[in-house]
Amino acid sequence: MDALVLRGQIVYAPFPKKLTVRPDAYLVAEGGRVADVYDALPEAYAGVRVEDWGDCLIVPGFNDLHVHAPQFPNRGLGMDKELLPWLNAYTFPEEAKFRDEAYARRVYGRFVRELWRVGTTRAAVFATVHAPAARILAELMGEAGLGGFVGKVNMDRNGPDDLIETTGASLAETERFVEGFAEGRVRPILTPRFAPSCTEALMRGLGGMAARRDLPVQSHLSENEGEIAWVRELHPWARDYASVYDAFGLFGQTKTVMAHCVHVTDDEIALMLRRGVYVAHCPFSNLNLASGIAPVRRFLDEGLNVGLGSDVSGGHRLSMTDVMASAVECSKMRWKYVDGRAPLTTAEVLYLATKGGGSFFGRVGSFEPGYAMDCLVVDDARLSDETPRSPEERLERFIYLGDDREIRARYVDGALLSEPRGG
Ligand code: GUN
Ligand code: FE
Repeated sequence: MDALVLRGQIVYAPFPKKLTVRPDAYLVAEGGRVADVYDALPEAYAGVRVEDWGDCLIVPGFNDLHVHAPQFPNRGLGMDKELLPWLNAYTFPEEAKFRDEAYARRVYGRFVRELWRVGTTRAAVFATVHAPAARILAELMGEAGLGGFVGKVNMDRNGPDDLIETTGASLAETERFVEGFAEGRVRPILTPRFAPSCTEALMRGLGGMAARRDLPVQSHLSENEGEIAWVRELHPWARDYASVYDAFGLFGQTKTVMAHCVHVTDDEIALMLRRGVYVAHCPFSNLNLASGIAPVRRFLDEGLNVGLGSDVSGGHRLSMTDVMASAVECSKMRWKYVDGRAPLTTAEVLYLATKGGGSFFGRVGSFEPGYAMDCLVVDDARLSDETPRSPEERLERFIYLGDDREIRARYVDGALLSEPRGG
């Protein structure tokens, strides 16, 4: 039988409100999908070798719902500006380098290895406008056994000459890019960079492509006040920023994720809810670019789909445990200084980084039956102290203090991932 059995201290978050903790339990998968979690191994699996991880925690793999692979070399640099000057001064010049496929292969190799290292098992990734480089990124993620979406970015205005495409070429290249994907767990996603980078003709073309080919969409929404004012100037007919995407079929007509949503209005939230549009909450980036503090508690209260994004390199770290800690910290500042809504809990940030964002990729991010067998084995002995700690406490401490040194194994769809080559 094609079964995998891991034994350990199993912790996951099928709901935001409360962790599910199963001490000394068996996590069983068949054909890459979770069968169930058992206190005693059922007779049916009697012949299967048990991978006994002893006192290690076993948690779902982490899902990064928003990250820019070509910005990996800029991590921790250029944090002295807000969004629009930051794009022009640091981001666009770096992204222009990805015309060079050898450069792209080196950087993307390092990026993929770092995803593996920090325990991110699936990600929604922006590449650049360059389709050949974006193809290399998808290939490298696939070879590493990671899952997710890769988008060739679309930009046909308001950028430097060496990044801007013609509308026709942008659409044609995108069509070729999505057609070039082999079956697998890395899939294409349409990626209009953000409204100011795209003419209405380009957005209309991409919306048509999304509908025709049933392709998902990722972009940015209401991150920064200067950006929002610019969108209003560019599209004076639109009620708000979300309505611009919506008018062109890029707002939940197919599966859609919007990064940031720091300054969204009541109307925009209502539309996101109606359309099932996901929020990728990116706390590091929102701090670094002084964008603001997104109302995540409100998003959860209203029932929006929410996950977490590292947003490298607006965000400086790829590790989702670091992003989780930052999400809790930001929510406390919002509670204290802005809206009095309760801060996020450990259970809630684990939920956001696993099932919350994971559902964008399918049945991903939980250990409920039928979910993809994506998991991490966490040996937190280095972080222990003299007092016995519960699995909940150990998870909290891993989120705040842990890093890749604690991650002993990573599985995606039931397959153990070896360290990617390259970089
Ligand atoms: N808006 C448009 N492009 C970008 C980007 O690369 N990073 C962030 N944080 N926001 C954007
Ligand atoms: Fe971003």
